[in-house]
Amino acid sequence: MSDVTGAAGGARVTLDGLTISFGEMPAAQVDLDVPAGEILVLLGPSGCGKSTILRALAGLLTPDAGRAELDGTRVAESRSRCAMVFQEDALLPWRSARRNVEFALTLRGVERRARRREAEELLAQVGLQDFADHMPGELSGGMRQRVQLARTLATRPRVLLMDEPFGALDAQTRSDMQQLLVTVWREYRTTVLFVTHDVDEALLLGDRVVVLTPRPARVNRVIEIPEPRRPGAQFEPEFARRRYEILALLGESPDEALTSAAG
Ligand SMILES: Nc1ncnc2c1ncn2[C@@H]1O[C@H](COP(=O)(O)OP(=O)(O)O)[C@@H](O)[C@H]1O
Ligand SMILES: [Mg+2]
Repeated sequence: MSDVTGAAGGARVTLDGLTISFGEMPAAQVDLDVPAGEILVLLGPSGCGKSTILRALAGLLTPDAGRAELDGTRVAESRSRCAMVFQEDALLPWRSARRNVEFALTLRGVERRARRREAEELLAQVGLQDFADHMPGELSGGMRQRVQLARTLATRPRVLLMDEPFGALDAQTRSDMQQLLVTVWREYRTTVLFVTHDVDEALLLGDRVVVLTPRPARVNRVIEIPEPRRPGAQFEPEFARRRYEILALLGESPDEALTSAAG
C-alpha cells in the first residue's frame, strides 16, 4: 500500500430502521448491515429512495426514526468520513485537475509541499498523470470522473457513497471506470455503497446486491455474489440467472414485458 493511501480501511455501515420522510410520505425505511470493506450495490426503481439513503449516510438528511451508523456511532457524531461521488462531477471548472485534488488535500490540512506530491500520486492512481495541468473543460466525461475519484480519495473517506456515478458514460468508458473502481478499492479497502440502474453493473461490482422496493425504499431481496468481480463471470449461466431474478423483482423481466404487452 502506498503511503498516499494512508488508509484506515472501511467503516462498517449499519442502517437500523432508518426512516426518512418528506412530508407525510416516507421515502426510505431500511435495515442493512454492511461489513467494513464490502461493495454493496443498491438497485431500485427510479424515485424509490436510493439517493435519500446515501444522503442520510452522508449526514445531509436527519433520520425521522431509526439510525444510520458508522462503526456503531451515529453518522452525526461519527468522525469517520463518508464521501459522495455523483454522476455529474462537481469539479471546480477554473482549477486544473491537480488543483482540484490539491483543494481536497487543503481541506484535510495537508501542507503545501506535500500537497503537490500527493495530488500527483492520486492522479497517477486514476491514470491521469499526464493530465494534471488540464482544466476540467479540456477533459472527457470519463476523465473528469477520474479526477473526481482522485479528489474523493484525497479526503481519505472510510465509506464511498456512489450515486449512479457512471450513468452518463458510454459503454466502454463505463466499463473502464468499473475496472478502475475495483482496482482503487482493492488498495484502499473502503466500504462502498454503489447505486445504479444497471443490473449488469450491479452484478459485476457487488459483493451483495440489494434490490429495493418502490417508494418507500425497503429491502426487497439481498443477492449474494459468491465469487464477486471474477473476470468472465458475466458469460456464465449463474450471471444470467441472477440477472433474470433481479429484472423480475424490478418488474422488468422479459416475461412481464410480454405479459403486459399481451394484456
Ligand atoms: N428534498 C425533497 N423533498 C421532497 N421530496 C423529496 C426530496 N428528495 C427526494 N424526494 C422524493 O423522495 C423520493 C425518493 O427520492 P430519491 O431518493 O431521490 O429517489 P432515487 O434516488 O431512488 O431515484 C422521490 O419520490 C422524490 O421525489
Ligand atoms: Mg437518485
